[in-house]
Amino acid sequence: MKAVVITTSGGPEVLQLREVEDVAAWDGEILIRVTATALNRTDTLQRKGAYQLPPGASPYLGLECSGVVEAVGKGVKRWTIGDQVCALLAGGGYAEKVAVPAGQVLPLPSGVSLTEAAGLPEVACTVWSTVFMTSRLSPGESFLVHGGSSGIGTFAIQIAKHIGAKVFVTAGSAEKLAFCKDLGADVCINYKTEDFVARVKEETGGKGVDVILDNVGGPYFQRNLESLGVDGRLFIIGFQGGNTTQANLGPLLARRLTVQAAGLRGRAIEDKARIVAEVEKQVWPAVEAGRVRPVIHCSFPLAQAAEAHRLMESSAHTGKILLLPS
Ligand SMILES: NC(=O)c1ccc[n+]([C@@H]2O[C@H](COP(=O)([O-])OP(=O)(O)OC[C@H]3O[C@@H](n4cnc5c(N)ncnc54)[C@H](OP(=O)(O)O)[C@@H]3O)[C@@H](O)[C@H]2O)c1
Repeated sequence: MKAVVITTSGGPEVLQLREVEDVAAWDGEILIRVTATALNRTDTLQRKGAYQLPPGASPYLGLECSGVVEAVGKGVKRWTIGDQVCALLAGGGYAEKVAVPAGQVLPLPSGVSLTEAAGLPEVACTVWSTVFMTSRLSPGESFLVHGGSSGIGTFAIQIAKHIGAKVFVTAGSAEKLAFCKDLGADVCINYKTEDFVARVKEETGGKGVDVILDNVGGPYFQRNLESLGVDGRLFIIGFQGGNTTQANLGPLLARRLTVQAAGLRGRAIEDKARIVAEVEKQVWPAVEAGRVRPVIHCSFPLAQAAEAHRLMESSAHTGKILLLPS
């Protein structure tokens, strides 16, 4: 089979489509012939050699895919050859075929094309497991997502609106904010020209928001604490601005704040299966009802993975970037 290989750590040019050894489905796994895979920000870190792979993960990039089941390993009951699916992967999506534990596989939701479905598993599982399963965002509450036009952000806006939350976003340009507004965001803040803490306070009558999903880390930590109301919850999923900071912890105590952080990729297979099952139960009906859709910026042939990485690192995209093996 063909797969994109990281020939050496470095810039996008190190990504090359090569002939590699075929993968097979082991016990409890299925083999998917990949229709599409989607980029995630972490892929760029892995390419640079700045990401520690979880034990047993494929050496190839790609944390999600859609495609058709080509083989079924021993013990797998739910899936059969020919099923159209999408899946959460620990790696290996930038290839013609990928093997994945059966519990990380989702059926193709009705109303979504097999190609577009590649952009759903990682954002749905990340946002559902953090904002909803952990931080318990509830109807009537307020929610701030940083990087509203990112793959994660575009999904988070839609699902939070669907459950009845008031949605605040930050992004770095007027065009990106207009895009977020079209997706349903209520309060759109340009972090380059506005102080998001002041704007959150103004829009909430000084109260602050209930939940924040953060991808920036250190530089936003204090300001995120200042933006949360009583019993507020901060969930950190990325360190795009760095992972160190010095902070005044006073707001944690004064307003009973909760701070959590987690990565999805390194979780145990059983843990991922539990999240995927919840996503199928809670999120798939919203997708099938047309309330939440995959937001696809564009797609590239798999052989142009380097071009796709350049686009992601330019941050000019809104939503997901796909790679198509054929
Ligand atoms: N923990 C997990 O399990 C998990 C899972 C998936 C993703 N993530 C994280 O979630 C984040 C979004 O991922 P994605 O794949 O959706 O990425 P993405 O589509 O590339 O979006 C990242 C966005 O972050 C903004 N950004 C970039 N550098 C920034 C900075 N220094 N300060 C503020 N904003 C910045 C950019 O928007 P602007 O132009 O508006 O700045 C960009 O659109 C990443 O940090 C990723 O690592 C974590």
